[in-house]
Amino acid sequence: MDRASANDLKITTSATDYVIVGSGVAGIFTAIRLAEKGQVTVLSKQDLIAGNTWFAQGGIAAAFSPEDSPTLHFEDTWKAGNYFGDRAAISVLVEEAPARINDLVDLGVRFDRTNGAIALGREGAHSMKRILHIGGDATGRELIESLIQTAKDIGIRFIEDAFAEQIAVEDGRCRGLFYSTKDGLHYIAARAVILATGGCGQLYQFTTNAPAVTGDGLIMAYKAGAVLRDLEFFQFHPTVFLPPEGQPFLISEAVRGEGAYLVNAKGERFMLNKHERAELGPRDVVSRAIVEEQRRTKDFVYLDLRHLGAAFIPERFPTIYSRCLEWKLDITNDLIPVTPAAHYLIGGVEVDRDGHTAVKNLYAVGEVASTGVHGANRLASNSLLEGLVFGHRVAVSAAKNDDPVTAELPQELPAYFSNLSDRKAEQECAALRSDLTWMMWHKVGLIRIEESMLEMKQQLEKWLPLTRYRYSRPELNETANMLLAAMMMTEAALLRRESRGCHYRSDYPETDDTLGRKQIIFSTADSSVEGNHPPRAEFSDKIS
Ligand code: FAD
Ligand code: SIN
Repeated sequence: MDRASANDLKITTSATDYVIVGSGVAGIFTAIRLAEKGQVTVLSKQDLIAGNTWFAQGGIAAAFSPEDSPTLHFEDTWKAGNYFGDRAAISVLVEEAPARINDLVDLGVRFDRTNGAIALGREGAHSMKRILHIGGDATGRELIESLIQTAKDIGIRFIEDAFAEQIAVEDGRCRGLFYSTKDGLHYIAARAVILATGGCGQLYQFTTNAPAVTGDGLIMAYKAGAVLRDLEFFQFHPTVFLPPEGQPFLISEAVRGEGAYLVNAKGERFMLNKHERAELGPRDVVSRAIVEEQRRTKDFVYLDLRHLGAAFIPERFPTIYSRCLEWKLDITNDLIPVTPAAHYLIGGVEVDRDGHTAVKNLYAVGEVASTGVHGANRLASNSLLEGLVFGHRVAVSAAKNDDPVTAELPQELPAYFSNLSDRKAEQECAALRSDLTWMMWHKVGLIRIEESMLEMKQQLEKWLPLTRYRYSRPELNETANMLLAAMMMTEAALLRRESRGCHYRSDYPETDDTLGRKQIIFSTADSSVEGNHPPRAEFSDKIS
């Protein structure tokens, strides 16, 4: 088919200095940092609080107490990541953490305090109390609402219900972005495009993630020529409550940090002989232990907070307390049934320590990016921090760019715009999402095995032609992105024939030292992204 022309598509054009896709912590903090350097436009495909940030509970990790230090924070991060992280990136994360927390305080963010000093909580695999929180367990909500207010006050331009579809690349440089709204298709030119689109937790049937988190940024970046890596590393959170109806609800690790127990139906603390830190072991260890206990006892596993006290619980965890009450669980008296659920994408768009992707003028930050700080498993509460630390660095770096911006459309539009879906493809695409998420949960979930992953791969290959089209509705374009992301996660999980961090294979339960310096990457250099060939995974040597 001939390439679509701008006239056929009726694209409206505009220009700005910086486009940021995503209004979570990473996007908004970067926007605030860039505001002095030019006009910043932030897009969100739903409202401004659509992503995962709003749901964050536990808090933000930073070495803030006199007994703590960036060195100790480094060691915990490195160890939790199974010694697979990028040491230089981790150093940046932990050393710059206190400065970024001070920036938040200067911006008016009000962390919880005890006797005037910032209150610090503990979470799994942290050797120190170092989690700053807001509103008890409402860290994400309080943080993002405060940052959005600041961003509005300083004149950042927001476009809501704007679905980013494609990055415009010309002569090897990113020139702008195509997005759609209910009014049609738009092109916005910019000197830098910053992807802050979050992870892809919606790929799984049971997830803590917000509905907007569908991996769009991964696929936009990949199609534009950026490299994706570490997609086999996806973290499952151990303690999630599945209410009778509606979204799974996270029960923060901070609850265990304050001393809550994990017990089986007989009230026995089964973590005591599973890890030296018992309930506060690494997330992958605790998650697998819960599943083993559920299978062994053929019964539920519970969180028991009762001994923390009826006065303390609602004060320290007001959100969890009141949400559980809505489901008739009084957690000062009742146990909470919990189970693991999909939580966090560790891999993502490969970036350097200033957020550069492989495409000039295209940046990635936050959960969509792979800075390397999390290695093979993320230390709790290091993610909001990553958005802040690397958001600041992306802003400093993007501000140096003085490439001219012109609102003219690129000479050649991406082929994607020529491949409009037909009715049959629309129907097929609309029907498959629940099968996709069900299969990802069962076949490429917490515990993986070759046979199941091959079944997933086979099914994905049948669906592959559907990724070729541009659909008439954003949710179908999302599904097409989810298909490509699932395909890459499955390929990577098949290729890594070992267990490491949150990638656990029951057919290869040991860690293979020969893979300790190898990362799995996807690049578009030699594979089609137009629905004809599956993306190709390959090993690459780790750089740092
Ligand atoms: P998000 O906050 O997910 O925002 C993504 C944004 O991208 C949204 O605005 C969305 O609308 C936009 N977007 C996506 N695709 C498109 C598109 N195609 N077009 C336009 N816009 C698009 N981490 C911690 O460090 N501490 C915690 O206590 C903590 N608790 C958590 C609790 C829960 C329940 C969950 C789910 C996660 C938690 N995490 C926590 C992880 C952390 O919240 C996330 O990793 C982090 O908030 C991600 O921020 P982000 O800015 O990268 O993306
Ligand atoms: C939690 O509060 O348990 C989530 C923390 C995180 O994912 O970092």
